Amino acid sequence: MIYLLSKFLHLAGAITWIGGMTFMLWILRPVVTSQLQPPQRLPLMAGVMGRFFPLVWLSIAALLVTGTGMLMAVGMKTAPIGWHVMLGIGLLMFALFGHVYFGPFKRLKLAVAASDWPEAGRRLGQIQAIVKTNFVLGWLAIAAVLFLH
Ligand code: HEM
Repeated sequence: MIYLLSKFLHLAGAITWIGGMTFMLWILRPVVTSQLQPPQRLPLMAGVMGRFFPLVWLSIAALLVTGTGMLMAVGMKTAPIGWHVMLGIGLLMFALFGHVYFGPFKRLKLAVAASDWPEAGRRLGQIQAIVKTNFVLGWLAIAAVLFLH
């Protein structure tokens, strides 16, 4: 029962995070880029991320606690290789997100507050590149847990 509840929360974290990245990268950003100029577009994107990123922190907490819980329940030694790969990829994704949050995202907010659009545009570009990496890593983690035994 506790194991199933852990898995449910684990999936909730993964769906929230990957779903948000999907929406931001492939739906919101292209439309906003084609329709708005930097002084409108950059504060909008900073605001959107300001609302999405706390949810990512919550997802990371859920993924980490439930993921390590499930791994411990089965035992590191007996766990399939895919589970270890997921742990490794997950830790990399968490580190990349932490970097985005305390680096480029913080700078993006400062640049937007100062109406420094070239700097804000550069920071947004950095964030998008790392979020794309995490999007790919997230799907690789899921593939690993499903296909590697
Ligand atoms: C610290 C990092 C992580 C650890 C230790 C971890 C651990 C695990 C374990 C042990 C399972 C297998 C559960 C089972 O089959 O009974 C699992 C399944 C899964 N994990 Fe993770 N995980 C981590 C990060 C992530 C991340 C970052 C994502 C995606 C964003 C993710 C998405 C999933 C999904 C979709 C499943 C499939 C659940 C199923 O079996 O149907 N996990 N994880």
